[in-house]
Amino acid sequence: MSNVLILLFLAALVFQASSDSNKIGICHGRVGNDLPSPYAASLLLKSNGISKVRLFLPDPTVLPAFNSAGIELMIGVPNENLTYLASSDANLAVNWLRSNIFTFVSPDHIRYLVVGNEVLYKDTFYSQYLVPAINNIYKALQMLGLDKKIKLSSAHASSVLSSSYPPSAGAFDQQLLSVLLPMLQFLNQTGSPFMVNTYPFFSYINDPINVPLNYALFGPDAVSVKDGDLAYTNLFDATIDAIVAAMEREGFKGIPVIVTETGWPTAGHVVATKENAAIYNGKIVERVRNRVGTPKLPGVPVEVYLFDLYDENLKSGGEFEKHFGIFNLDGSKLYNIDFS
Ligand SMILES: *[C@@H]1O[C@H](CO)[C@@H](O)[C@H](O)[C@H]1NC(C)=O
Ligand SMILES: *[C@@H]1O[C@H](CO)[C@@H](O)[C@H](O)[C@H]1NC(C)=O
Repeated sequence: MSNVLILLFLAALVFQASSDSNKIGICHGRVGNDLPSPYAASLLLKSNGISKVRLFLPDPTVLPAFNSAGIELMIGVPNENLTYLASSDANLAVNWLRSNIFTFVSPDHIRYLVVGNEVLYKDTFYSQYLVPAINNIYKALQMLGLDKKIKLSSAHASSVLSSSYPPSAGAFDQQLLSVLLPMLQFLNQTGSPFMVNTYPFFSYINDPINVPLNYALFGPDAVSVKDGDLAYTNLFDATIDAIVAAMEREGFKGIPVIVTETGWPTAGHVVATKENAAIYNGKIVERVRNRVGTPKLPGVPVEVYLFDLYDENLKSGGEFEKHFGIFNLDGSKLYNIDFS
């Protein structure tokens, strides 16, 4: 009988461990001078039933607020620290993790460390340090007995693809392969995900002739793109499957994809409206909740982190960059979206 109980207990654990793949995550950027306190942000997430958050930096003034919130954390290792982490040995990486992260938040609450954000796209100075830094941090996690618990990867812009249409023709930019191949090797060996930031909004505004708004916005009447036996009705799915195809082209099958940022702004462009943001983000939440998967991998859940918790008034670039927030500063929603 005790064996039966143990089995039931293990089954419950396995279920718990996999049960959050239908939960949406939210990114919490803090590039603003009017933002609520980190503690208020953590309460807002909790009160909306959001149990996963991506923090871009291991900010010592932010992490403590999330330590006791019961929220699973994805924490960024800043691009600026990759040089140090690549050249240091694993002992120094242990010290770095302790003094920058584990002092403020228990490793128990951390699910992912995102080592570098869009380095190959906008911070190429650090490209050569990326994989060595990941390897050192991995060794550090092994030394701490945390390598199974905390997964390591790096978040890429979808521009790592040089070809994405149709999705089965997905291929990585050849110039990036010297970094991407050893990284894929690492992800494959350690059972870690490939992370991508993808914004159909940007694809649309950069090329409105070839990217119909309906296709970017999960429109019910979007013309579908045929790709062999598969049909695509939205750019979100097409991008994920193009990444999967690109990885398979390099010989890597079965590496899961996590969307570490996606979203739709509510101001700063004619199609940046609350109505469109409600449609886009609402569809993403619904698809995650129902574990829809993609045409190539139906029913295989894709973990997604929506960008962004609040508007960030100090963001540079186009005006819309400041307006990805889903919640107002007072905690009300900018538009109707159901996270329950
Ligand atoms: C990490 O980067 C920050 C700037 O983002 C810098 O102040 C700090 O000295 C760096 N630490 C190490 C160990 O490289
Ligand atoms: C990926 O990992 C699996 C399991 O460890 C291994 O059998 C396979 O050869 C790896 N693939 C590549 C391309 O390295």
